[in-house]
Amino acid sequence: MSNQAVLASQWMATTAQRVDKAIETSFQNWDVSAQQLKEAMHYAAIGGGKRIRPLLVYATAALSGKQLDDVPGLDHCAVAIELFHTYSLVHDDLPCMDNDDLRRGRPTVHKAYDEATALLVGDALQSMAFGLLANSALTEAQKVGMISSLATSGGLAGMAGGQAIDLENVGKPLSKEALENMHRLKTGALLRTAVKMGGIAIDLNPEQLKSLDQYASALGLAFQVVDDILDATSDSQTLGKTAGKDAAANKPTFVSLMNLDGAREFARKLHLEAIESLAVWGDNAYLLKAIADKVLYRQS
Ligand code: IPE
Ligand code: IPE
Ligand code: MG
Ligand code: MG
Ligand code: MG
Repeated sequence: MSNQAVLASQWMATTAQRVDKAIETSFQNWDVSAQQLKEAMHYAAIGGGKRIRPLLVYATAALSGKQLDDVPGLDHCAVAIELFHTYSLVHDDLPCMDNDDLRRGRPTVHKAYDEATALLVGDALQSMAFGLLANSALTEAQKVGMISSLATSGGLAGMAGGQAIDLENVGKPLSKEALENMHRLKTGALLRTAVKMGGIAIDLNPEQLKSLDQYASALGLAFQVVDDILDATSDSQTLGKTAGKDAAANKPTFVSLMNLDGAREFARKLHLEAIESLAVWGDNAYLLKAIADKVLYRQS
């Protein structure tokens, strides 16, 4: 490994701990009467996640050369995108969706609690994400930009829309274009927002944000292609979630469409596309490059 790769890997480990601490802080001093719901939200949010989306927020903000502590509101951005993502996982696992028992190495929220609680955990985590952004040290313009991006990428034209297409197409073969569209919506959109949040936090101009979005778009699609590959090739212990679910549930995936070799080649092509689009940022983008490598080479 090069020196830079070692630095990046250390940075990812310590920054993931920063995310866990910031999530913990966001749950403190919240005096609510619905204690069980709060406990279940905390159960969903703490432990086990790779924290890729918050890492993208921080790595993008690091393009400014500033220390993370010197970018106002950054921890709230990181926690907001992670909690929003966590909400999508809790709902994705529900019996009416993927019906999964295992997530992040532990029973899913509806197994540890019950279905109604899991539904409400998702609802409340989503609200909490928007609340964190609204009540952060960001400027008003930054808040509106981020809230708008998160609303779009989480909703009908993003994650929720992609999840609907996923469920509608169980047992049906999808064309490459249709599958790509589904993956870009259900997974890619939130990853793009993570990068955009980091960019808005350091006041990048629209042209710079657009250039970074090329990286994020390729990475977002690659992320779900690799998720499809891992589902078909890994085991539940390593993944922390049930392996082999996609084939068992007859889901259209890149593995079902183009077999393992084809899916692996497609993931490599997208990874290269992501890396190449970082060229304009020079050495400053080494953390974003390391995250792209992690997305491609990850085991879980
Ligand atoms: C899993 O996301 C769901 C997808 C969008 C593919 P991650 O692989 O980022 O899950 P965690 O957060 O690390 O558990
Ligand atoms: C959908 O993809 C991910 C979300 C939008 C939450 P999957 O259903 O493949 O995610 P996993 O494999 O359960 O994490
Ligand atoms: Mg799913
Ligand atoms: Mg699932
Ligand atoms: Mg999957």
